[in-house]
Amino acid sequence: MRMRGRKVLITGGASGIGLASARRMVAEGARVALLDQNAEGLAAAAGELGDAAFAVRADVTDETGVRSAVSEGADALQGLDGLVNAAGTSFWRSFGDMTLEEWRHILSINLDGPFIVTKAALPALRASGKATIVNIASGAGLQPRQNFSAYCASKGGLVLFTKSIAMDLAADNIRVNAVCPGIVMTPLVERNLALTGDREAAYQRYISRNLMKRFGTADEVADAVLYLSCDESSFVTGSALSMDGGSVFH
Ligand SMILES: NC(=O)c1ccc[n+]([C@@H]2O[C@H](COP(=O)([O-])OP(=O)(O)OC[C@H]3O[C@@H](n4cnc5c(N)ncnc54)[C@H](O)[C@@H]3O)[C@@H](O)[C@H]2O)c1
Repeated sequence: MRMRGRKVLITGGASGIGLASARRMVAEGARVALLDQNAEGLAAAAGELGDAAFAVRADVTDETGVRSAVSEGADALQGLDGLVNAAGTSFWRSFGDMTLEEWRHILSINLDGPFIVTKAALPALRASGKATIVNIASGAGLQPRQNFSAYCASKGGLVLFTKSIAMDLAADNIRVNAVCPGIVMTPLVERNLALTGDREAAYQRYISRNLMKRFGTADEVADAVLYLSCDESSFVTGSALSMDGGSVFH
């Protein structure tokens, strides 16, 4: 029960990595507030997790909506000791074809979102006296990918945002870390594979990039999120943990 008594807000908690992290934390004794824009997914996730979970609907780009959702979540849990910023989206487009509107859309969800949610959660995290923040960045925030400039910029920004606020918040005893997954099978990636038109070719291309020749699982990422949110990582802050089957370094 590594998370016994801990209270954690998880954005993107209705699906994929956010939901897997919520399951893992609840199994280890935490109570969680799931923040997502997907009402149907939220209801299913909260139903599955029962009394340990509380669902709040918000779009992470909407500052006013986030403020009231975070305060509702913190009230329901009676405080916050942890935050996981997992809400995000991806977008493939060559730079020449990308519009400013598309660029802003990705940056607003993947980079403004964690800023807005973290700001809203900060008073409760400070009050905890021993809090953690885990941002789900990406291997694409450490290494470029072709036709992925907006996503790479958003996740590269998130990695340095993580390290930078780790410095700002250390005095509040808040540890801030990022996880940088490689390709992980989630509904987001299923949608992207389908969009390629040749799912099998895209699948093979992805797995050829890592040493383990497979996709990661949301549960594997959730294990890292759990580690960075519990006392086992008590001397870890400002880190960006690659979880990509050895994709980025080779
Ligand atoms: N799956 C991968 O291969 C992979 C790899 C690296 C990083 N990531 C990152 O992991 C995070 C989770 O992705 P996933 O693969 O689990 O995707 P997912 O689509 O399964 O889950 C993302 C969740 O975020 C929510 N969301 C999206 N935009 C939102 C918004 N504006 N406001 C509130 N909620 C919003 C969605 O409703 C969804 O429930 C993302 O930040 C993604 O960039 C994923």
